[in-house]
Amino acid sequence: MPLLEVTELSKKFGGVHALTMVNLQVEKGEVHALIGPNGAGKTTLFNCISGFYRPERGSAVFKGRDITRTAPHKIPRLGIARTFQNLELFRNATVLDNIMLGRYMHKRASFFSEALFLSKAKNQEVEARRRVEEVIDFLDLQPYRDRVIAQLPFGTQKCVELARALALDPELILLDEPAAGLNSEETRDLCFWIEDIKEDLEITVLLVEHNMRVVNEVADRVTALDFGAVIAHGTPEEVQQHPDVIQAYLGEDDGAAASA
Ligand SMILES: Nc1ncnc2c1ncn2[C@@H]1O[C@H](COP(=O)(O)OP(=O)(O)O)[C@@H](O)[C@H]1O
Ligand SMILES: [Mg+2]
Repeated sequence: MPLLEVTELSKKFGGVHALTMVNLQVEKGEVHALIGPNGAGKTTLFNCISGFYRPERGSAVFKGRDITRTAPHKIPRLGIARTFQNLELFRNATVLDNIMLGRYMHKRASFFSEALFLSKAKNQEVEARRRVEEVIDFLDLQPYRDRVIAQLPFGTQKCVELARALALDPELILLDEPAAGLNSEETRDLCFWIEDIKEDLEITVLLVEHNMRVVNEVADRVTALDFGAVIAHGTPEEVQQHPDVIQAYLGEDDGAAASA
């Protein structure tokens, strides 16, 4: 059974068919890349998986459980964390607070269990702090931990978003264009981190990525979308050589798939 299985998922916005009968299987332990030109439906698919959008038909099943109609705030508790294409951080809070807040909002004991079983809440607090410190070390964020987000370079802000998602201890992490806007050094670091997230943290990764060098370097398997439909899936090489994929990318300004 795949860790995540999307079956015949369709989502419309007015007359726009953002997703049409999309099938996607993400196996435990893999890095799976979702590619496709702008407007192909990649972010919409992430939003359907993470509960932000309700598809008109089809399902998303995570670890055998149908999550299609699960509210977005409950998704992290089931083991799925995500980052956003446009950063969603508290800009006037510190790096540490942003990472801690992510963890608190989703993992804290409920009000009643906190009131009734203080020791449980205390343990959670200790565990949360330990986990957050680990993630800060893992992503080399130590020098920035007390800095305010708004004052940090974009690449570091993206790194904080990744940290916030990792601090949730997910089994599956969804990354929406993690390399967009990064310089070449930051992109190289990102590739190493994605490898480590898979190998050392044993977290399965589903990423939307435009940069084909990143896809080639980190992805085990690739699914390509165009106009809301799956046009190819397979290894990075197979997918990039697929005629429909080459066709889809013609006319894209960076010719991403063809030139990689
Ligand atoms: N909230 C929304 N309201 C209306 N249309 C949307 C919304 N989100 C996405 N779309 C449309 O759905 C299509 C797919 O968009 P999106 O999933 O953002 O593509 P991608 O992430 O692959 O660039 C586009 O035509 C986009 O304009
Ligand atoms: Mg997008």
